[in-house]
Amino acid sequence: MNTVLTIDLTDPDAFVEQRHHDMLAWLRENDPVHWHATEDGGFWAVTRYDDVAGLYTDHVGFSSEGGPMLGGSFRSQADPSAGRMLVASDPPRQRQIRQVVHRAFTNRMLGRIARQVTELVDAAVERALADGGCDFATDIAPELPAGAVMAMMGVSHREARELIDLTRKMIGFRDPVYVDTSDDERLLLAVTQAEIFEYFAEIVRARRRDPGDDLVSFLIEAERNGRPWPEEDILYNCMNVAVGGNETSSYTACSGLLALLENPGQFESLRHRPELMDSAINEILRWSSTNAYVMRVATKDLWIGDREVREGDSVTLWNASANRDPSQFDRPDDFDISRSPNRHLSYGIGIHRCVGAMLAQTELGILFRRMTDPGLNIGLSGPVRRLRSNFIQGITRMPVVLR
Ligand code: HEM
Repeated sequence: MNTVLTIDLTDPDAFVEQRHHDMLAWLRENDPVHWHATEDGGFWAVTRYDDVAGLYTDHVGFSSEGGPMLGGSFRSQADPSAGRMLVASDPPRQRQIRQVVHRAFTNRMLGRIARQVTELVDAAVERALADGGCDFATDIAPELPAGAVMAMMGVSHREARELIDLTRKMIGFRDPVYVDTSDDERLLLAVTQAEIFEYFAEIVRARRRDPGDDLVSFLIEAERNGRPWPEEDILYNCMNVAVGGNETSSYTACSGLLALLENPGQFESLRHRPELMDSAINEILRWSSTNAYVMRVATKDLWIGDREVREGDSVTLWNASANRDPSQFDRPDDFDISRSPNRHLSYGIGIHRCVGAMLAQTELGILFRRMTDPGLNIGLSGPVRRLRSNFIQGITRMPVVLR
């Protein structure tokens, strides 16, 4: 291990250049509960599997009300979404919100989404075949969330892609592909959030007039103490599902395809043994750790390992590290589609475990069954470009040839 390694987990370029794997491996071995000083204070970085899993399940000692992302989450510090948006709430409120949101994740809805996603993926692959190739990151992968948004929110393909452009800007707020990075980050986030709210406010108006069998209608119907939810709570949770689902599934699709292309033996074996699909998808999730970390805030003074954490301290749970911890995974740096067991933490665990996990598995299954079609030949045709973010690990450009 390089002894002059600089540890800076806030540096988005380290993630673009993939240097963060070395940082995380060093921390796991030498300083597993690390105080990470920053200009405006600092945060704890927890990197071992057992510690990360323990923190996920301790919702008494650690609050989610600060949101999942360092630096005031998707919102400005003064924003009142704490306790109103699912991912940024604690029990008992979290359980109440989750029951409502969960209505949009029934088996019936999953079936509807699966049909929509299949149609879009097939059409995108046909277009790419006709053209001899495409940019997988922009032409095929975003069709997964597009199909989900169309079915869950009852919008058209064009409207779904518009929403994906907005959520992509929000998650890519440090990436010059999406925004002018010389602008103030907080302002960029606030402006994008306002645009997403505006997008959903229009749909809320339409569903109030003409309710349907979709997420927005379920949120409008929801009641708290016998009264409907305030409009803002509806908008926050629309945004939560959109931001939670749009970028994660399409970036995981890109990382998964890249891993298969870089490991042609694994790609071949998946082609010939489709029964490995579920385990391959779990390995893709572990490997890509698309949500690199999530944040919690300590609710009291307590200990993590041998480090004393103070009430109010921000604590980051590094999925990207826990998923490569050799104490949990044999040969963690090998991509192995038949890995078993594979208790990756990519969806989190505990009460906040991803409510869209089954949906993501479904979307990825549809895509990778198509990609491993024996008649389909796919290869990289140019350099990939990674998202400039320490929160979401993604690929923004991935030229491929398709035959
Ligand atoms: C590969 C795809 C996905 C990954 C890696 C992923 C990852 C995660 C993680 C790590 C959490 C836990 C956050 C925490 O503990 O603070 C989470 C929660 C959540 N995810 Fe996902 N997610 C994915 C797909 C989706 C999809 C498709 C949707 C919806 C369409 C979605 C919506 C949500 C929501 C609403 C929550 C909040 C749940 C709660 O706080 O109770 N996610 N996701």
